[in-house]
Amino acid sequence: MNGRRRRATPGHGRAVLVTGASSGLGRVCALRLAAGGFHVFAGVRQETDGERLAQDAAHGRLTPVRVDVTDEKSVAAAAERIGEETGGRGLWGLVNNAGICVSAPLECVPPAQLRRQLDTNVVGQLAVTQALLPPLRQARGRVVNVTSGLGSVAIPFLGAYASAQFAKEALTDVLRRELRPHGVAVTVVQPGAIMTPIWGKVSDVARDAMAGAPGQVAALYRDKFEQFLAYNEQQAKESPTRPEDFARAVGHVLTVRRPKARYRVGADARRVSVLARVLPDAALDRYLRSITE
Ligand SMILES: NC(=O)c1ccc[n+]([C@@H]2O[C@H](COP(=O)([O-])OP(=O)(O)OC[C@H]3O[C@@H](n4cnc5c(N)ncnc54)[C@H](OP(=O)(O)O)[C@@H]3O)[C@@H](O)[C@H]2O)c1
Repeated sequence: MNGRRRRATPGHGRAVLVTGASSGLGRVCALRLAAGGFHVFAGVRQETDGERLAQDAAHGRLTPVRVDVTDEKSVAAAAERIGEETGGRGLWGLVNNAGICVSAPLECVPPAQLRRQLDTNVVGQLAVTQALLPPLRQARGRVVNVTSGLGSVAIPFLGAYASAQFAKEALTDVLRRELRPHGVAVTVVQPGAIMTPIWGKVSDVARDAMAGAPGQVAALYRDKFEQFLAYNEQQAKESPTRPEDFARAVGHVLTVRRPKARYRVGADARRVSVLARVLPDAALDRYLRSITE
């Protein structure tokens, strides 16, 4: 497809879908984009979450849309609705933010949990992107894929989550290269640790995984893993990075003239990506041992 990329100016009238808008980063991002003049389709799984969001937005520029990214019918229905509502304008932005985090020693991760992790954070993201590419192409719009610092470094006890983030990074790189000729820009936003409800959910999933593992296997990891979970949650609590910093980065990607391939939010995300690029494996292993052993 030929033609010049349209210059992005903040908000007004441009339609954006944010998945996983019921809580945490997605919620703040959806509200902030709506306040900045975008028309936000806020992806939620529960009707009540959508109602709360619409109330908090309070200016009519936020439309809740039910979408479970792991359910093909739900994705198709959401895409049809957004296609109808945006009409000839198309969709300017898709923020693939919905995600879960399975944390446990890999020996203890039940295959069903690994499938759920990959289905939600990888397969579901691509399914949503595929379904919305027609209106995105129409608007010569932008896809923002939310990964994490763990898309650069695979940390012990977060193997399931890191494998999803690495896969999402790869999907994003390929999409960026494939969709450039179509006028659709694709960008990764990698947040570092930010205190959101995800941290409470991580502990619940971790507890279930350890309870389901054979006793003698769980015993090999339990103490170190529990220390790791506590350390991780503490890092998130003490992190100076806020959901608003993430939302600002997404807003930047959606409004800057030429978005870069990758943005990192928070000093920890930047540090991890530098370490991954400069340290040989043995040195990186030593550094990670200081956290997990
Ligand atoms: N917080 C951090 O420190 C951090 C750091 C790096 C990256 N991230 C990434 O940022 C994203 C948002 O995380 P968060 O911290 O804001 O977590 P969160 O508060 O737990 O929010 C996760 C969102 O994803 C939604 N979701 C989960 N499964 C879904 C599915 N199958 N279909 C549709 N929506 C689904 C949840 O909806 P329900 O409420 O319906 O479950 C919720 O809205 C995730 O992709 C995460 O990997 C977070």
